[in-house]
Amino acid sequence: MQRTFAIIKPDAVAAGHQGGIIAKIQESGLRVVALKSLRLSKAQAEGFYAVHSARPFFNSLVAFMTQGPVVAMILEGDNAILRWRDLMGPTDATKAPKNTLRGTYGTSIEANATHGSDAPDTAAYEIGFFFNGLELAGL
Ligand code: RTP
Ligand code: MG
Repeated sequence: MQRTFAIIKPDAVAAGHQGGIIAKIQESGLRVVALKSLRLSKAQAEGFYAVHSARPFFNSLVAFMTQGPVVAMILEGDNAILRWRDLMGPTDATKAPKNTLRGTYGTSIEANATHGSDAPDTAAYEIGFFFNGLELAGL
């Protein structure tokens, strides 16, 4: 059993794709064990994507992630980290297979609909970044 952290990004929320994305998660057998909607501040988005702070796309990424509300989720299941990454598809939505979430709902390398943790340590960090102890208690 493993947990991962997922975001429905502002492009997909603005387009009303939350329901379609959550349906695909549930069809895959992953469980949504926590979910909330919020809008990131600039400082929060910069902190969340701090690993990319030296990349040329960082400022654009922060602007994109703060342009509207997101849906933050904890997903649970066997091998959840890799299963969620597979369901999302590759980063560049224009190259993602049409049967992936990014291929279905994303429109560019940046506006790619969803986020997923890439390893157990980042999953634990990202869950703690978005959900507090009270929200995690009893899950
Ligand atoms: P994520 O962290 O959001 O799940 O995406 P990822 O692992 O597939 O890709 P990553 O390399 O971590 O990049 C984080 C997000 O930055 C935007 N991006 N823009 N303009 C560009 O070249 C570029 N490259 C990445 C995307 O929104 C990507 O998901
Ligand atoms: Mg990443």
